[in-house]
Amino acid sequence: MPVTTRIEEVRNEVTELAQASPTAQDLMKDMVRLLHHRMLKYNWVGFYLLEPGAQPPVLVLGAFEGAMTPHTRIPLNQGICGAAASSGQTVVVDDVSKDPRYLACSLETKSEIVVPVFVNGKVVGELDIDSHFPAAFTPEHQALVQHCAALVGKRLEAGR
Ligand code: SME
Repeated sequence: MPVTTRIEEVRNEVTELAQASPTAQDLMKDMVRLLHHRMLKYNWVGFYLLEPGAQPPVLVLGAFEGAMTPHTRIPLNQGICGAAASSGQTVVVDDVSKDPRYLACSLETKSEIVVPVFVNGKVVGELDIDSHFPAAFTPEHQALVQHCAALVGKRLEAGR
């Protein structure tokens, strides 16, 4: 199947999930499972959420699929994860071995994308995906992952 068709299908599937999942927590759990299962190059898929009230702020691992990571709490001045949350920008790294910010999760990881999740214009967390393939996150993939993060943000904003 051409990758653009697969991306369109998965985009529709996550949109349906957002309508069907009873809570934001369910949505995040179901979404990471779906992305990990359907997108063959998404080898680790997880959410990090900012711990409410923590000073200094820290990202805490939430729902994820893939191998357990040593990075369950990430301060905002560390990692690709910290860079995305502190800047409020999507970060795509085509070759993690060349990025000094990278915190290793698996030796097999070659590329990574991190997309912030916003509630009322503020970053509350992020969707992080690692791939065993270099440069896996083309602009089409970025658009899909941003769509996923936006669905979760809208859901959290709705307070359920
Ligand atoms: N690689 C991330 C850490 C999280 S693991 O990939 C799951 C980073 O550099 O922030």
